[in-house]
Amino acid sequence: MRLYARDLEVWIGGVKVLSGVSIDVSEGEVVGLIGRNGAGKTTTLHTLMGLVRPRSGGVYIERNGVELEVTGSKPYRIAGMGVSLVPQGRYIFPDLTVMENLEVAYGGRVPEDLINEVFQYFPELGRIRDRLGIHLSGGEQQMLAIARALVRRPRIILMDEPLEGLAPKIVASLREVIKRLKGEGIGILMTEAGNIKRVRDLVDRVYGIDRGEIIFSGGIDDMLRDEAVRRRIWGV
Ligand SMILES: Nc1ncnc2c1ncn2[C@@H]1O[C@H](COP(=O)(O)OP(=O)(O)O)[C@@H](O)[C@H]1O
Ligand SMILES: [Mg+2]
Repeated sequence: MRLYARDLEVWIGGVKVLSGVSIDVSEGEVVGLIGRNGAGKTTTLHTLMGLVRPRSGGVYIERNGVELEVTGSKPYRIAGMGVSLVPQGRYIFPDLTVMENLEVAYGGRVPEDLINEVFQYFPELGRIRDRLGIHLSGGEQQMLAIARALVRRPRIILMDEPLEGLAPKIVASLREVIKRLKGEGIGILMTEAGNIKRVRDLVDRVYGIDRGEIIFSGGIDDMLRDEAVRRRIWGV
């Protein structure tokens, strides 16, 4: 399965936020979308997920050699085709337990084999399954946000700044989870604003985004070597 967008133009509140954005992610690869705050990373993921409707351009899913246009489709329809979003800020329900947060995502009692499978990625979540969302650390919330995506059995996961604001130990363990998911054949499109080092050996390829435009597509080392791109994305 492949999820891709062509030539997206998105306007929000009278401001052009994306122009000419084309982006692809396939099963079994980790793709980075890198750009500073306000560059348009979240808007790109939201448009892929159907949460934002582009003024022009299209979003497509290719599955078993069949191409389907999903531009403007409802988010639940896109989710139903195997795409999950792990939102920036996580949006865990504070008054629900870990398990109840997962049940909301699943839409009912999560089957035992599925919950065991998900807790294999996050054994610590299994141990705190009855803890309320409000009592979770940032790292635990991020794990739960990914677990919530996993109970939907996605083929492609869009992760919005999944490593942001977390302790190095948590970052290390989330990086391992991302590698394992890729090994299972799941495709991951992840955004990153600041810290290129922590995604360098994680991503197969990257896009650079600045002011709503894709200004680079290729290997991360080539991106780091490109002075013009570096200046626009990191100001150095
Ligand atoms: N709901 C919104 N209302 C007003 N402006 C928005 C909204 N969402 C995004 N923007 C603007 O669109 C641009 C891109 O935002 P965003 O996609 O969130 O960037 P990033 O995720 O890279 O930080 C920013 O300039 C932001 O101010
Ligand atoms: Mg964002």
